[in-house]
Amino acid sequence: MRDVAVVGVGITKFGELWKDSFRDIFVEASLKAIENSGVDHIDSMYIGTMSSGLFVGQEHVGAVMADYLGVAPIPATRVESACASGGAAFRSAFFEVASGHSDIVLAGGVEKMTDGADVTEALATAADQEYEVYHGITFPGLYAMIARSYMHDYKTTREQLAAVAVKNHKNGSMNPNAQFRSPITLEQVMKSTMVANPLRLLDCSPVSDGGAAVILASLDVAKKLKRPFIKIKASSQSSDTIALHSRESLTSLKCVSVAAEKVFKQAKLKPKDISFAEVHDCFTIAEVVVTEDLGFFEKGKGGEAAEKGMTAIDGKIPINTSGGLKSKGHPVGATGIAQIIECYEQLTGQSGERQVKKAKYGLAQNMGGSGASCIIHILEAV
Ligand code: COA
Repeated sequence: MRDVAVVGVGITKFGELWKDSFRDIFVEASLKAIENSGVDHIDSMYIGTMSSGLFVGQEHVGAVMADYLGVAPIPATRVESACASGGAAFRSAFFEVASGHSDIVLAGGVEKMTDGADVTEALATAADQEYEVYHGITFPGLYAMIARSYMHDYKTTREQLAAVAVKNHKNGSMNPNAQFRSPITLEQVMKSTMVANPLRLLDCSPVSDGGAAVILASLDVAKKLKRPFIKIKASSQSSDTIALHSRESLTSLKCVSVAAEKVFKQAKLKPKDISFAEVHDCFTIAEVVVTEDLGFFEKGKGGEAAEKGMTAIDGKIPINTSGGLKSKGHPVGATGIAQIIECYEQLTGQSGERQVKKAKYGLAQNMGGSGASCIIHILEAV
């Protein structure tokens, strides 16, 4: 395997993009990434999208996007791993360049969720249809069960969960592409509409449209481009039972701890070496559990860490400096790529007000469903 770099990035605004179609959004992000990197061609591309068939009635996404980006006949492949589809597309592109098969590959992600489909039902296709969805449960309900169980075991307070949302909205207020750029207070979270007890509106990531793309290249190509680039230090993936009821524990996500162990071993690093992390905060409880399962905090201490400011931009381990899924938005297929973009910007010193000082290693953790799939990358500044 040879070294692989991220040499350019492109992202659309996240939110309700009424004027833009599914393909427009992808093409906008991809053209920005190509221009930003300075490459004169791409050898192939991978596109992460979770449910374009249900959201906008479009399948065969690889061919559609290659056509509209004007790069056909290059190989173009759609990759799906629910909300981790973007991370999976990035990992596929990484292997293609690392193997020596291609020198320059685009990895993108896109979702158009606000065009009228039944979003909650479409998202629920990533859960267990026979044993969970049939009985009426959807994602806010699944994560609410994790939250209840976690709060019972670790005496975590509602305020501690709310602290995650407050911190992520503060970070998102400094991100020009974020869907919600308004800071919120603890009181606003605590008083927001109940969605699935104990999770309220402001504990949830929103429904979003958006696209993101990055260009991966061999180190030789990266050096010749003479633009800022970062290195991909390690990549890991894991899966777990699709249904919550089959898990040994509801308060820990095994897919995260298994993938974390692998990625740190591959990178020859420890959690304490990571400068900042983008994690999959689809609901506030997810950020708390994931930061523990990644090894940043002891089990049961993730909520307290958020409350004490340890995950703030100037804290011990800044988490979701982009605003996370909560404030930046969660166009599901694009999320994993947007996390890589935040890592690229932080590690090349381009994050403006959100910049983490002396950032050397960034970690991106992308998750599918209620934790049935997880993809983690560690990125390195050069
Ligand atoms: N965070 C902050 N504000 C939100 C929000 C969110 N997650 N979702 C909606 N809003 C705002 C809207 O902008 C709107 O504000 P306005 O009245 O000032 O225009 C208001 O809240 C109501 O919006 P609406 O679209 O009617 O909300 P909704 O009740 O249809 O949806 C949720 C709210 C939480 C149910 C929906 O965002 C959701 O399902 N989120 C989870 C998505 C998910 O499961 N993703 C996959 C994770 S695995």
